[in-house]
Amino acid sequence: MATIAVIPGDGVGPEVTDEALRVLARISELEGLKFDTIAYPFGADHYLRTGELMPAGVLEEFKQMDAILLGAIGDPRVETGILERAIIGGVRWNLDMYINLRPIKLYAEYLCPLKDKKPADIDMVFVRENTEDLYIGMGGHFKKGTPDEVAIQQMIMTRKGVERAVRYAFDLTRKRGKRKKLTLIDKVNAIGAMEIWTRTFEEVGREYPDVERDHAFIDAACMWMVKNPEWFDVAVTGNMMGDIITDLGAAISGGLGIAASGNIHPGRVSMFEPIHGSAPKHAGKGLICPLATISAVQMMLDYLGHTSASARVETALAKALTGGEIRSLSTSSGMKTSHYTDVVLKHLN
Ligand code: IPM
Ligand code: MN
Repeated sequence: MATIAVIPGDGVGPEVTDEALRVLARISELEGLKFDTIAYPFGADHYLRTGELMPAGVLEEFKQMDAILLGAIGDPRVETGILERAIIGGVRWNLDMYINLRPIKLYAEYLCPLKDKKPADIDMVFVRENTEDLYIGMGGHFKKGTPDEVAIQQMIMTRKGVERAVRYAFDLTRKRGKRKKLTLIDKVNAIGAMEIWTRTFEEVGREYPDVERDHAFIDAACMWMVKNPEWFDVAVTGNMMGDIITDLGAAISGGLGIAASGNIHPGRVSMFEPIHGSAPKHAGKGLICPLATISAVQMMLDYLGHTSASARVETALAKALTGGEIRSLSTSSGMKTSHYTDVVLKHLN
């Protein structure tokens, strides 16, 4: 039996997590799988009540689990970044989940805000490095609040960190076998140290002669994503740029209502979550679309090796989005959170 740690978190996190767990329960029945889920209370309420963010002992506990499912973290009652860095960051960095895997897939044309783009045009996977770059917390303020204030934040890229992300991306491109094209996205024309990506990409790439190597600067890549998304197959990039461009990716594939991600350390406990945040203003109203978290469960099943279960959930999602019952993923769609799940479950049965 696999054990899944569940962190529903803040805002809409608990609502979408409940719905995703309904799908997990049903697919488990259908496929004869057994999951033991253990809920953890981390998030704003817990922090405000107890002062506890993410205890070291729990991070140790997580190492014994098979996977973690996260709803969303962030709450206006707590200074921005405190919860996010301690809980999302705490898990990602302490458990060395060095890949942030973000598929960008358009399931139905009506979900796309771009003119004349079809599902065949938007089907790519982003590999975002997940442990380094501007996210490592080396920085701070000097003479804060004075006219002489200095703020500094270090961007760190290591050969180990870059190489394992690049290698993962080449392996994935080969395994996916779609167009066998891997695009490196960076800003080496302005940030010279990013040449570590260029060199590593070339060196590792020689071991993958069957994979086409492509390159784009981040600013141009953003433009191509809008104009010619069909050019992308798999893309690899750093943590900060990967964070930003995958929200753009989410937008062209139907928005944050559908986009999911996996924080992965191959072979070890990994964490799956929707790309969207806690959306506090929508919390508790039953209006949020849970499909992104359902998609995160689908990624989790795939990661755990339950390929048939994962494929069935993905097919159900695709049918739910094209069957006519769902017309929008927006909170103003008039569709209730649980109704989205009902449609997925109907197609799962
Ligand atoms: C994401 C989020 C996080 C990130 C925040 C909440 C720290 O935006 O998962 O993309 O920047 O990685
Ligand atoms: Mn983000």
